[in-house]
Amino acid sequence: MLMENTRPKKRTIPSIMRALELDDYKGQLRHIEKPVPHPGMGEVLIQMAAAPINPGDFLFMRGEYGVKKPVPVVPGLEGSGTVVAAGSGLVPRWLMGKRVACASSKERDGTWAEYMVTSAMLCVPLLKSVSLEQGALMLVNPMSAWALMDIARRGKHKALANTASASALGRMILRLGQRFNYPVVHIVRRQAQVDLLRNMGAEYVLNSGDPEFDKQLRETFHALDVTLALDAIAGEMTGHLLDALPRGGSVILYGGLSSTTVVTSGLPLVFDKKSICGFYLIDWLSSLNVMRLMTTTFSIQRLLATDLQTSVRARIPLEHGIAALETYASEMTQGKILIVPGNHITER
Ligand SMILES: NC(=O)c1ccc[n+]([C@@H]2O[C@H](COP(=O)([O-])OP(=O)(O)OC[C@H]3O[C@@H](n4cnc5c(N)ncnc54)[C@H](OP(=O)(O)O)[C@@H]3O)[C@@H](O)[C@H]2O)c1
Repeated sequence: MLMENTRPKKRTIPSIMRALELDDYKGQLRHIEKPVPHPGMGEVLIQMAAAPINPGDFLFMRGEYGVKKPVPVVPGLEGSGTVVAAGSGLVPRWLMGKRVACASSKERDGTWAEYMVTSAMLCVPLLKSVSLEQGALMLVNPMSAWALMDIARRGKHKALANTASASALGRMILRLGQRFNYPVVHIVRRQAQVDLLRNMGAEYVLNSGDPEFDKQLRETFHALDVTLALDAIAGEMTGHLLDALPRGGSVILYGGLSSTTVVTSGLPLVFDKKSICGFYLIDWLSSLNVMRLMTTTFSIQRLLATDLQTSVRARIPLEHGIAALETYASEMTQGKILIVPGNHITER
């Protein structure tokens, strides 16, 4: 009988790694080689398995994200991999050898590389049931979908609306709405997206390209008592939502997919007690105490294969990462593109 060797393999860490690097915030990337970084106090070195391209990465590469690092810099907000070296500290040492979902730290390079050093506090050890592939997609969208749904439910809103609803995050909100029996109005921009969400069982789907869109929005909000609208688009969409909401309603802006300024007369804010505020995952996470943070990450991992699953359109090697940005941006609804530095994802 063959005995399986369960001891973790000792990995040799090279001195040079491949990465994608940004020279300035005009968005131009280069495929480069650079030294593998060393983890300092409280940090770990992760051998990257996979890292997605998200809309937030585009904001980062234009210098418009919540964090702006000195250039040159490796972008990539999130990913997954195995901890192969630990700096000093209890948590880094505890993470040694573990498969983790990870986010890049403010002070260091990002995930689009063969190796990344980050704070141990930005790593979540993955449950056995979670693949490195879904783990790579765990921190940005599933956490945000969970957070936004939590905000809506705690705010005692009877129903909510969401824009760009065919997005990965939008589909998570759809499934969470179904799980919690919570009415959600899904707003998309074309018929194929209406069909996609209807096939997932969505009841209320509006197409912003429809000439009657504003009327439909007002009527649906009224019928379902929608008092909260989540907006990933900005530009004119935010104004449409504000106009359609009842007195006292609010818009939470959580993205800027249209890359345009919010358009509103402002009068609904003045005369109808309506409001706009922003949502940034990092701020929401820092508002949680340690216990709630732990239960949240556990609940999210348990749902990663179902409600919080992300569809992956392609897995591509690092050297094709630059072309992949364009492919992804050309039709984001098709699913995420994962940058896979080792060319394939090895679970151990
Ligand atoms: N604030 C935070 O902390 C936070 C955290 C996580 C995510 N987010 C935001 O959540 C949003 C969704 O992210 P994701 O990764 O789930 O997206 P995704 O899966 O890449 O999908 C993006 C979706 O938006 C649609 N879209 C793109 N530009 C649009 C526009 N101008 N008007 C209407 N629809 C548009 C795309 O449709 P097409 O296929 O037609 O292009 C696609 O369905 C993004 O804005 C992201 O920045 C924010």
